[in-house]
Amino acid sequence: MSDSPWWASRFAALAAIDPDLAGALDRQAEAQVDLLERLLELRPGDPLLDVGCGGGRHSILLQERGLAVTGVDLAPELLELAQRRWAARHPGHDGPQWVQCDMRDLSPQGPFAAAILLDRTLGVFDDDADHLRTLSNIADRLRGGGVSCSSSSIPTTGPTATSPGTSPLARSLRALTSSGPTASMP
Ligand SMILES: C[S@@+](CC[C@H](N)C(=O)[O-])C[C@H]1O[C@@H](n2cnc3c(N)ncnc32)[C@H](O)[C@@H]1O
Repeated sequence: MSDSPWWASRFAALAAIDPDLAGALDRQAEAQVDLLERLLELRPGDPLLDVGCGGGRHSILLQERGLAVTGVDLAPELLELAQRRWAARHPGHDGPQWVQCDMRDLSPQGPFAAAILLDRTLGVFDDDADHLRTLSNIADRLRGGGVSCSSSSIPTTGPTATSPGTSPLARSLRALTSSGPTASMP
């Protein structure tokens, strides 16, 4: 596993300037969550893993809709921001579980009904082996029929690809996810 690249700390640096730069709980986030609920057929009580949850933009909204969310992120500052945001909206009420870990070495074991990696969380490692390791970890933590959803620009148009959907990564993704449905958001 290579070191986490430079961009891993960029989001936390933005949040230090203005929490909303790290993702606001706004109408766009609500719309994404609306779509996720339908796309992933989420039901209240379902355990959901938000990988690279950042400041909790989607985790918080999904927990508010009755899901049992576990949000993981590398940056402790962002997890603290997520925790503060939840506490401000729901004083005294338990919220998502926030877990600090590397997405390539996930500590929550699940099983989860669904996993999400939203808004450029996946597709940014220099080495595709890190993407595959992440997805394989997630697949191991999904219960039967579990689904994963990514809205990231997986580098099918990046240096490892010749055309969309034909890169070794894209082929491996298809192989990895062939045992269950996977979804992609624009
Ligand atoms: C572009 S942000 C997206 C955050 C969130 N999903 C959203 O949509 O608001 C990417 C997130 O991935 C986290 N991250 C970067 N590298 C990571 C790693 N190796 N393991 C876990 N999280 C990581 C960053 O800290 C950041 O919060």
